[in-house]
Amino acid sequence: MKRFAVLTSGGDAPGMNAAIRAVVRCGLANGWEMYGVRNGYAGLIAGNFVTMGPRDVGGIMQKGGTVLGSTRSTEFTTIDGQRKAIRALNSNGIDGLFVIGGNGSQTGSFMLSKLNFPVVGIASTIDNDLYGSDITIGVDTALNIALEAVDRLKVTASSHQRAFLLEVMGRNCGYLALMTALAGGAEAVIIPEVEISPEEIAESLNRSYEKGKQHAIVIVAEGAAYNAERLSAYFKIHHDRLGFDLRIAILGHIQRGGVPSAYDRILASRLGAGAVDAMAEGKTGVLTGWFGSKVGWTALETVVNTVKEIDKSLIELAKTLD
Ligand code: F6P
Repeated sequence: MKRFAVLTSGGDAPGMNAAIRAVVRCGLANGWEMYGVRNGYAGLIAGNFVTMGPRDVGGIMQKGGTVLGSTRSTEFTTIDGQRKAIRALNSNGIDGLFVIGGNGSQTGSFMLSKLNFPVVGIASTIDNDLYGSDITIGVDTALNIALEAVDRLKVTASSHQRAFLLEVMGRNCGYLALMTALAGGAEAVIIPEVEISPEEIAESLNRSYEKGKQHAIVIVAEGAAYNAERLSAYFKIHHDRLGFDLRIAILGHIQRGGVPSAYDRILASRLGAGAVDAMAEGKTGVLTGWFGSKVGWTALETVVNTVKEIDKSLIELAKTLD
């Protein structure tokens, strides 16, 4: 009987558990023996495998995080670490590996596939910065958490006629910030991909008050040159000229641990099933992603060597709509 293993790696994302469940149950339906690897690539190097039956993945879909655990393993980035991982896979008789994760994790998948081990990736990161999937598992839930924060801040901002700065995650990618601004009706957005000066931000805030708004919300991506702390420090130093007190709220990891939305559960279930299909057909060394309204596959080599662009025209749309 063929044996396959699944691991989650990098930052946890809401929906990872639904993806684990889909991989395990679809694999079992194919007549395979299924295993989980605890704690990502670190667990793989240590040979930390557990058998996964249908009941082991029962009741996990509604949980945030990952029941298998995750790590960011530095050892695995070395060729020695990768060879140890392959030895652990071979000595446990594993025929193929599923990797649920984002950029760093799929770079790991690519390394294993270059060493001729069959790997199929599943696109999962709240950052949505992974080439090879329009949207990744966890984005929808993380966005909804950010939106709830915007709605709450607006209440206080309106009550006190204050300006707020909300910093969201996303590493070097502005997707989460831009979509939060668009869906939350923010007055300005700051993302790493587009340069903007504090003076321009002050102008946007002034325009909002001139329009008669009672609040002003700026969404800033953590990876922007002017992140929340730097921007608020600049506004403090130049207070007399810019004329605003910016209060800051940094969402940080609060954004990652939510109960997965319906969208994320469905996306994860479909990508997990698609990954099993690819493995069954011997289509390995690929990332399973979402294109339009369908599952699709992209070579891991392309995935790790291509930057996913964001649609900058949406900045203009956010401005028009604010
Ligand atoms: O990649 C997901 C993410 O949450 C990024 O948005 C963030 O920059 C990073 O992980 C934080 O990493 P860690 O949880 O290791 O601090």
